[in-house]
Amino acid sequence: MCGIVGYIGTRQAFPVLIKGLKRLEYRGYDSTGVALLSTNAMLNVYKEEGKVANLEANVANRDLGGTIGIAHTRWATHGIPSSTNAHPHVSQSGKLALVHNGIIENYSLIKERLTKLGFTFKSETDTEVLVQFIEYVKETHGVDTVTAVRLALNQVIGAYAIVLVDKEAPEQVIVARKSSPLVIGLGEGNREFFIASDATPLVEYTQNVVYLNDGEIAVLKRGEEMQICNLKNEAVDLDVQSIEMNIGLLEKGGYPHFMLKEIYEQAQAMKDCMRGRLLEKEKRVVLSAVCNHSERLLNAKRIIIVSCGTSWHAGLIGKQLIETFVKVPVEVEYASEFRYRNPVINKEDVVIAISQSGETADTLAAISLAKEKGAFIFGIVNAVGSSIARITDAGTYIHVGPEIGVASTKAFTGQLTVLIMLALCLGKERGTISEVEYEEIVTELAAIPDKIERSLACNERVADLAKSFTYARNFLYLGRGYNFPVALEGALKLKEISYIHAEGYPAAEMKHGPIALVDAEMPVVVIATHHELYEKMLSNIQEVKARKGRILAIVTEGDEGVKDLVDNVIETPPTLACLSPLLTVIPLQLLAYHVAVIKGLDVDQPRNLAKSVTVE
Ligand code: M6R
Repeated sequence: MCGIVGYIGTRQAFPVLIKGLKRLEYRGYDSTGVALLSTNAMLNVYKEEGKVANLEANVANRDLGGTIGIAHTRWATHGIPSSTNAHPHVSQSGKLALVHNGIIENYSLIKERLTKLGFTFKSETDTEVLVQFIEYVKETHGVDTVTAVRLALNQVIGAYAIVLVDKEAPEQVIVARKSSPLVIGLGEGNREFFIASDATPLVEYTQNVVYLNDGEIAVLKRGEEMQICNLKNEAVDLDVQSIEMNIGLLEKGGYPHFMLKEIYEQAQAMKDCMRGRLLEKEKRVVLSAVCNHSERLLNAKRIIIVSCGTSWHAGLIGKQLIETFVKVPVEVEYASEFRYRNPVINKEDVVIAISQSGETADTLAAISLAKEKGAFIFGIVNAVGSSIARITDAGTYIHVGPEIGVASTKAFTGQLTVLIMLALCLGKERGTISEVEYEEIVTELAAIPDKIERSLACNERVADLAKSFTYARNFLYLGRGYNFPVALEGALKLKEISYIHAEGYPAAEMKHGPIALVDAEMPVVVIATHHELYEKMLSNIQEVKARKGRILAIVTEGDEGVKDLVDNVIETPPTLACLSPLLTVIPLQLLAYHVAVIKGLDVDQPRNLAKSVTVE
C-alpha cells in the first residue's frame, strides 16, 4: 500500500515523479505529494488530497524545478486522507523531507517522547513522527543524515520503505527498507537513480535494478556509485539485476479501463504462463522448480496453501486439484489467520504461498512463520523480484504481466494455470494420476486459451444484462466442486468494484441459511456447467426458483437442462471439470465490470482499496 517514487540525476525530477506516481497509483490513491530540491537548495513540497492528476493540475503554476525529488501516493493508515496527512512529511526545521510506505508500530511512544521535548506535529501520521525523530537523532548525536537515519531506524519497530532528502545535503537521496518493497533503478552510467515501490516506474529508463533487502540503507549520490549498508553499518555488496517488462502492458491500450484490458488479456496471459512449461506435442508439463526440488515436494506429508483475497480463492481450487491428482492432504489458510493462530507446522510440510503482488504483508508474515518452523516454501507469484518471490525456497512465476486494475482478473487465471501444472507434475512423479488422464488434461489445458477467447464473446450480452442488475443491493453466487471458489471470486469481484453486497456459497449449503434471503428482488448467479454435480445443481436451481429468485446461470454451450428453469443463461465452452474455473470466471468478471461501469464507479481504483496490501 502506498506508492513511493524518487529521483536523483540530471533530468528534471518532477515529470519523472509524476509519471512514476501514475504507474503506482494502484497502490493507493487518496492523496498525493512531491518534494523537490531545487538547484538553490530550496525544498518545495506540494501535497493534495485525491489522485495524482489532481496534484498535477494544482501545481502547474508553481516552482517545479529541481533534479532531485521524492513523491508519494497514499492509502491512509494513520489519519484521514487529507493534504496535511499526505506525504512527503517535513521535519520541524524544514530541512528533511520523507516519504514512507508501511507502518511504524511504536510511533506513539516516539511521538510522546518527542512531544515532551517540545516537538509539535501537523499531521496524524506515523511518518511525520519518523522524520522528526531522524532530525532529533541527527541534532542530539551531532551526526550526518545517513547516520541519523540508521540510528533512528534501529529504534523503530514496524515496516517501512522510506526515501529521504535533506536540504543541507542536496546531492544525495537516502533510501531504506524493512518489510515494505523498494527497488532502485540505475540510470545513465549507473550514476543516476530512480527509486520506486515496484519496477513499473523504472522500466522506461533502465533495465538495471537493485532490490533493497530488509534492514538495508542505500545512499544515492548524483554521479557516484550507490553505497549500501545494513543497520549495523556494515557495507553490503551491490546485486544488480536485469528486468524486462513490456511497457505496453502498463498502458490501457485503447481499453476504457485496465480491468477490461486485463480480462481480455487472459488468453494471451495463459499462453505466456504455459510457454516452455506445457509441451503440447510431447503431451507433457515441465516446471523447473518442481524438477529442481522434486525430493522435497514429493515427500510432503501435507501441503498448506497461504494467501489472501483472490489468491486464496485460487488456493481453494488448488486444494481440490492437488488432492485429486497428487493425493496429498492440502489445507488452505487465510494468511492473516494462519500467522496468528499458532498453527502446527512440521518440517515435512510444504507451504505454497500464492500472491499476485508478492508483497502482501500477511502472506509474507505467514511465510516467515512457516520458514522458522522448517517448512519448505513454494511461491506462486506474479510480480518478478517481489519480496515473496525472493524469500521463498522455490517457486513458479505466473508470468501474466503487470496487473494494474485493483480487482484481480488475469492473475487469478494465471494462478490456476500454475496450480494445474503443479498438480500434473507432482501427480505424474508420484504416480497418482493415470497416464490417460494426465494426457487428457494436458491436451485440454493447451486448448483453454482459445476457449477463453470464445468465452469473451459473451461480453456484449453480459453488458446488456448488467443494466438490469444495477438496482440490486445483494447478490448470491452459487457453485459446487471446482466452481464453488469461482462463486466466491465472482462475489468478491462484484463487491469490490460495484459496492453491491454479494456472497458466494456452495450451492447445497444455501438451504442451511442463505435461502432465507432469496426473494424476487434477489439476483442469484449459479454456475451450472456440465460436470459431475450438474444434476445436483439443477435441484439447487429449483430451490431458488421456488422462492422466486432471479437466476443468471453460467452453463456449458448447448445446455438444454438449465435454460427453462432460469431467467438468463451465459454459455461457456465445454471443458474438463478441473479446468472449468478458467472459463466460468470470465462472465463473472465481466458482470462485475459492467455493473460498476453502469453505476459510474471507478473500476480500476475502487474506494478504500489498494492493489498491494502491504499492511496487515
Ligand atoms: O497480491 P496478492 O495476490 O497477495 O493480493 C491478495 C489480495 O489482496 C487480492 O487478491 C485482493 O483480494 C484483490 N483486490 C481481489 O480482486
